[in-house]
Amino acid sequence: MQFRDLPRQYEKLKSQIDEAMLSVAVSARFISGPQVKELEKILAEYVGVKHCITCANGTDAISIAMRAWGIGEGDAVFVPDFTFFSSGECPADEGAAVIYVDVDDRTYNLDPVKLEEAVKRVLAEGKYRARAVIAVDLFGLPADYSAIRAVCRKYDLLLLEDAAQGFGGSINGKLAGSFGDIATTSFFPAKPLGCYGDGGAIFTDNDELAELIRSICVHGKDMSNPNDPNAKYNNIRLGRNSRLDTIQAAILLTKFKAFVDYELADVNKVAGWYTEGLKDTDLVLPMVTDGFCSSWAQYTVQLPASVERMELQAKLKAAGIPSMVYYAKPMHKQDAFAGTDSAVADCPVTEELCASVLSLPIDPYKTKEEIDLVISELKRFI
Ligand SMILES: Cc1ncc(COP(=O)(O)O)c(C=O)c1O
Repeated sequence: MQFRDLPRQYEKLKSQIDEAMLSVAVSARFISGPQVKELEKILAEYVGVKHCITCANGTDAISIAMRAWGIGEGDAVFVPDFTFFSSGECPADEGAAVIYVDVDDRTYNLDPVKLEEAVKRVLAEGKYRARAVIAVDLFGLPADYSAIRAVCRKYDLLLLEDAAQGFGGSINGKLAGSFGDIATTSFFPAKPLGCYGDGGAIFTDNDELAELIRSICVHGKDMSNPNDPNAKYNNIRLGRNSRLDTIQAAILLTKFKAFVDYELADVNKVAGWYTEGLKDTDLVLPMVTDGFCSSWAQYTVQLPASVERMELQAKLKAAGIPSMVYYAKPMHKQDAFAGTDSAVADCPVTEELCASVLSLPIDPYKTKEEIDLVISELKRFI
């Protein structure tokens, strides 16, 4: 069994994906081809924001957002302690102090009460300017944006939604990618909507910010007059080279159709099989709050203290079942932050989660028989 069955997805979509890739090869418009614009239009419409700017990967997307806001030295950026490294790496790379905040033990997402406590602490200490919050839609579930937004308003903080894992998730019908002042996502192959390499996107409703982000993505190019051929080599700021390849855009256009037509519904069905099959066990199951919808980048359970995680993983592996630990280390304990203010954090929930979580195989193409096998083997071993 595959942890995320991309070969099975390819098998099903092979003719369309092959045609999409070939059409780019034939046109030779490998960079900034028409598929890139088309994808940006479709994704912006789907997410429900004015602008989608694609870029090279989800990490660049966060860094470019930080750059567009001018986040840097002396600024504090609040980030959940339980997340993938990029969420904290990007603001730190711009020179900001990353303040790690604990998460909710059932949704795994940023705890708004702890967030406010952390903001108050930073303001009281007076060492940094409190500038921004990066909330993460972990494992596919949007964070609690009404509460997080209230904290941001109260303390005048910018809100970035890191929807790298959350594309397709929603709250009362409003889609992930639309909750931040800027939102970012990743098209890494194993993500809910993934391409065949690296890719990312940035979403915003703000016209000026969108122009600035587009400029940063292409070496700080002057974007004020897109029809002026000389503007291409007029660089008005320092930027970077961060573009989505046309081939990846063409693949994403094909995969997006499958994603909205059936994949999102099917992955929710698969998650439902797990939830039903595991409900009478000692495992703590992921919670989806009323009105929220997850795109199930991961199905992550918490093991009871009596279960030795590595041993369980080895037994599952022997039964042909892959499993992963997302994440084994709190962000504030990553060696990269040792000796900095980011290493100082009080996040007992994250510590507990890091010691107990286990992510099970999930994707829209799993059969009931496969999930039943995972459930029965898990039950047997625990
Ligand atoms: C929460 C989160 N943020 C950011 C990223 C970075 O995305 P990418 O791998 O496309 O750079 C990831 C990727 O795993 C992620 O899970």
